[in-house]
Amino acid sequence: MAGTTTLYLGPVKVNFGVFRLLVLSFATATTVMCALGPNNPKLTSQTVNVTNLYNDTCSKCHGVNGEGGGAGTKTLLTDDKFDAKYDRPYFEAIKVGVPTMGMSEYGSTMSDETIWSLVVHIRELQAKAWRQSRPRTDASKIVHTDLHDYLMEDVVTEGLKTPWAIDWLPDGKMLVTNRPGTMLLIDKSGKQTQVEGLPKVVELGQGGLMEVAVHPKGKWIYLSIADPKEGNDRQAMTKIVRGQLDGAKWVKEETIFEAGQEFYTGAGVHFGSKITFDKSGHVFFNVGERGGNMLAQKLDNPFGKIYRLNDDGSVPKDNPYVDESPFPGMWSFGHRNPQGLAIDLKGRLWDTEHGPRGGDEVNLIKKGSNYGWPVVAFSINYNDSPFRTPWPKADEDIELPAFRWLPSIGASGLDIYAGDAFPKWKGDLLAGGLSGANLTRIRVADSGETSSEELLFGLGRVRDVRVGPNGYVYVALNQPDKIIRLRPAKS
Ligand code: HEC
Repeated sequence: MAGTTTLYLGPVKVNFGVFRLLVLSFATATTVMCALGPNNPKLTSQTVNVTNLYNDTCSKCHGVNGEGGGAGTKTLLTDDKFDAKYDRPYFEAIKVGVPTMGMSEYGSTMSDETIWSLVVHIRELQAKAWRQSRPRTDASKIVHTDLHDYLMEDVVTEGLKTPWAIDWLPDGKMLVTNRPGTMLLIDKSGKQTQVEGLPKVVELGQGGLMEVAVHPKGKWIYLSIADPKEGNDRQAMTKIVRGQLDGAKWVKEETIFEAGQEFYTGAGVHFGSKITFDKSGHVFFNVGERGGNMLAQKLDNPFGKIYRLNDDGSVPKDNPYVDESPFPGMWSFGHRNPQGLAIDLKGRLWDTEHGPRGGDEVNLIKKGSNYGWPVVAFSINYNDSPFRTPWPKADEDIELPAFRWLPSIGASGLDIYAGDAFPKWKGDLLAGGLSGANLTRIRVADSGETSSEELLFGLGRVRDVRVGPNGYVYVALNQPDKIIRLRPAKS
């Protein structure tokens, strides 16, 4: 979406009175939803196949690939139209028709969810066309982007197994976590040492040893892990610990966050889990909903939430749900699988999270707010059936994302550019995509309007993005497992 602009729709204000009512009404829905599972078409009471519906109903005018031509239609495959600013107009065009041009309305025969699913289908067609004109980044040459040219370098090519996160100690040594449970300490010459004595971790689907984040004061190192259940290694729950390094030995471990054993599950998905710090002594982290869908809307469980604690693990008194939740660290809810978390130069907290098929999000995280999963979503079901619409109903207090990827990129690591090596990127969000195999730079204007640019594509699944102490942009790739960096090119 190079150089495009999207309109920031949010924020919708949170009203705490109404919010409590919502939580109560979701309580009954949860049991039913979980029994059905996330992708059961009955969730939307539809058994529609979106591709078939488009091909049967729309393609005679708009073309099977959106190329247009029938009944005087123009192509849908332009860069300008492949943009969030047309989400609502597209939806409305299908709902009420374009009578003056000979397109009838579909609002009387299709639900809003079905109409939205057709917009998603058009987005998938547009993405295919958009990608064809944008080849994979050539790592051997200077890469030209809107504001800076860069060169790519391999930094770590050995000792990696699904590398998950990168951070640096105050002395410049780099830490890299491998998802199966090992952590490398890498000095400036590239010499690797494996850290000894790490907590026990289970690699269960998407979980394992995940985040490493060094406290701004440098002494404590925080980790997020898939912690095995007592007596059952096939169940796990996201846990946050901190410890220190004595040489390459992990010592003085303390637990910052853990949930009761009853919340440990065998679900191999949506663990979260990133960690970041503000300047007032707080640590923020996120826990995914583990496929639990509606659990993300309820305060009685730890899933699908972003947390704020004091950096020693104690609970700040002014947290929003200290009196209402057994997890008083909760800061916001309604998250699916948040895998990016970063505080920008203005002190604002951002997350990136995975939608299912379509609709990964960048959210500006505010105290006590509901981010909507699974009540609203840009996505359709993986089986090509309609799911939701992106827009809350009048009585739903839900924050809309500041930016969305449609189709999904598998949003993963996120950092804010705060270095000096690429001065024109200062303050911008750098967001990685796993299935998208890409790195996006996003700028959020004071008005909330966003613009974005794809900086890198096609070299592997982008798991983590971190701005190094030297201002270079470090990227942890999976498949192939590699750490690369972007450094300025003088052209
Ligand atoms: C009889 C022909 C016809 C059929 C069938 C038809 N459309 Fe259209 N549609 C048009 C015309 C004509 C326009 C206006 C001209 C244009 O935008 O190309 C239009 C406009 C649109 C637009 C707005 C495009 C823009 O760029 O702003 C969307 C979105 C759309 N149609 C989607 C659909 C979908 C989805 C279906 C099937 C449910 C459908 N149409 C069925 C003829 C048709």
